[in-house]
Amino acid sequence: MGELRPESLERITNETLANAFIDEQVAEIRKQVGDKKVLLALSGGVDSSVVAALLIKAIGKQLVCVHVNHGLLRKGEPEQVIEVFKNQMDANLIYVDAVDRFLDKLAGVSDPEKKRKIIGAEFINVFAEEAAKLDGISFLAQGTIYPDILESDGVKAHHNVGGLPESLQFALVEPVKFLYKDEVRVVGKVLGLPDNMVYRQPFPGPGLGVRCVGAITRDRLEALREADAIVREEIEKLPETPWQYFCAIPDIQSTGIKYVNGKGERYMGWAVVMRAVNTTDAVAATVPEIPFKSLCAMRDKIVQIPGVNRFLWDMSEKPVATIEWE
Ligand code: XMP
Repeated sequence: MGELRPESLERITNETLANAFIDEQVAEIRKQVGDKKVLLALSGGVDSSVVAALLIKAIGKQLVCVHVNHGLLRKGEPEQVIEVFKNQMDANLIYVDAVDRFLDKLAGVSDPEKKRKIIGAEFINVFAEEAAKLDGISFLAQGTIYPDILESDGVKAHHNVGGLPESLQFALVEPVKFLYKDEVRVVGKVLGLPDNMVYRQPFPGPGLGVRCVGAITRDRLEALREADAIVREEIEKLPETPWQYFCAIPDIQSTGIKYVNGKGERYMGWAVVMRAVNTTDAVAATVPEIPFKSLCAMRDKIVQIPGVNRFLWDMSEKPVATIEWE
């Protein structure tokens, strides 16, 4: 277990406290880093985004952000990272299109833990290669938050194993390591990050890779990405959004029918599964009611995705099912 949160750190619940925290961290980062360069893997998730925004404020272009697109991100995510950090915040951002590299490595691999290992290892390889191209990096920034320190053997940690290779063992800059998630969000909001980044639902490191069930194929992955965007759009219209909501696409096909010139033609297509859950700790999860109208709106759009002919709702609770399909 790492260091404990200082007792003097008041719970950050409002703008004033967030501003005080930001000022303190900006001074602290400047003192720690001096005129050296800092490297950050920027996924676009809440924690790495808030760390990026803090460091941009503190040291500007001395921060080098690397955004690796592994092809398993949700629709619009890489574009948003570029828009927010490069275009709006003028960050030093390196965008790496590693889609083919990841999908080639994953081709034919159906075992979920093997898929996770490949994605994790390849991510480190790509990141280390980018780091090796850069001169004068002295620090590595990380979006570690307090629950990561407290729950280093918790439910999520068992999925994300593996440390950093020697070539990436720089001194760490971890400005939000004593904050809880809700505090990270308050700080992110005050730093000017968009709401859909700050209030984003949890998204697993291997991304859509563990939702494209079995061996990933590009066509099924694209169908999943489209379906996921549709589900997010419909769920986000509801007055209360569940803790996590997404789609999975099992590696099975079932019969569909379409009418061509009045004549029914049968064909095989995929089934998209929608999942929405509530939980506090991801150890157990319940399934909230979703209005029938919203389900129909999802169905009507999802069955129009090429290759998809069925829409299912996964109502299983955890236990007995896990939240993810893999
Ligand atoms: P399960 O499926 O185990 O998921 O009920 C519990 C929570 O963990 C997330 N999850 C992951 N997060 N890497 C991650 O960072 C992973 O490999 C991974 N697998 C599951 C899941 O989204 C849920 O919030």
